[in-house]
Amino acid sequence: MSKGKVYLVGSGPGDFELITLKGYKLIRRADVILYDHLIPLELLQFARTDAEIISVGKFAGRHTMSQEKINALLIEKAGDNKMVVRLKGGDPFVFGRGGEEVEACAEAGVDFEVVPGITSALAAPSYAGIPPTHRDFTPNLAIVTGHRKEGKEIEIPNAGTIVFLMGVANIPKIIDALLKAGWSEQTRIAAVENGTRYNQRVITGILKDFIQKVQDANLRTPAIFIVGRVVELQEKLNWFDKKPKVLVLGTHPEKNTHLGTIE
Ligand SMILES: C[S@@+](CC[C@H](N)C(=O)[O-])C[C@H]1O[C@@H](n2cnc3c(N)ncnc32)[C@H](O)[C@@H]1O
Repeated sequence: MSKGKVYLVGSGPGDFELITLKGYKLIRRADVILYDHLIPLELLQFARTDAEIISVGKFAGRHTMSQEKINALLIEKAGDNKMVVRLKGGDPFVFGRGGEEVEACAEAGVDFEVVPGITSALAAPSYAGIPPTHRDFTPNLAIVTGHRKEGKEIEIPNAGTIVFLMGVANIPKIIDALLKAGWSEQTRIAAVENGTRYNQRVITGILKDFIQKVQDANLRTPAIFIVGRVVELQEKLNWFDKKPKVLVLGTHPEKNTHLGTIE
């Protein structure tokens, strides 16, 4: 019987220790690993030394490999009886096109499993000290893409907290859409850049002055935006910034890679 199978694994948001135990065990066993640009690269140190490791490098708006080629490669490697780990940032089914990849497997008759990951939409607020729901502030939360095809409006759902992913280049459009949807100029907003990583940055403000603030701070992708009253809690709950951090750089015997952080 063929052992060829694809495991679509969420790597978690950035701090490599936030991967699931299941995901970690699969990385250790994999014959082939196909990974995206946003995964914590430290995870690759756990791969077998003879594993085939392929970067399919999805950057915002730029792919080193087309989605069709990635799908075809998954099917080809599983067809060669390989145990394939497809490692994607955060959770593979949250704005990650993971659904399309396992659809392609299903259509080709390739066996697959999905291992969820902690999405940046929830982990970055946690590390910034912003609980996206809170009984005193809002009973609901929406996660929205800040990146739409040319000519399409950013949709603002009716929710007390909104988290935007993929919005760095579009922050003026996001704020414009929020104001048009009736949000006040005084609404609190936070950006979390490199959430959960040692170099995480949090920028807070109100809708009125936020475009200037993120320009002054030279905000870069990957970042999420959190909008709503819960952002008020950041000053009180911001635990990660206060933690002393020591970055340890080292080399793995077979691969040059960061070994992680000691805190
Ligand atoms: C294509 S989406 C993939 C989301 C991913 N599947 C997840 O669940 O986190 C990429 C976007 O995720 C967000 N993102 C991913 N990692 C992040 C991080 N460490 N800090 C802040 N935002 C992050 C950014 O908004 C980025 O533009």
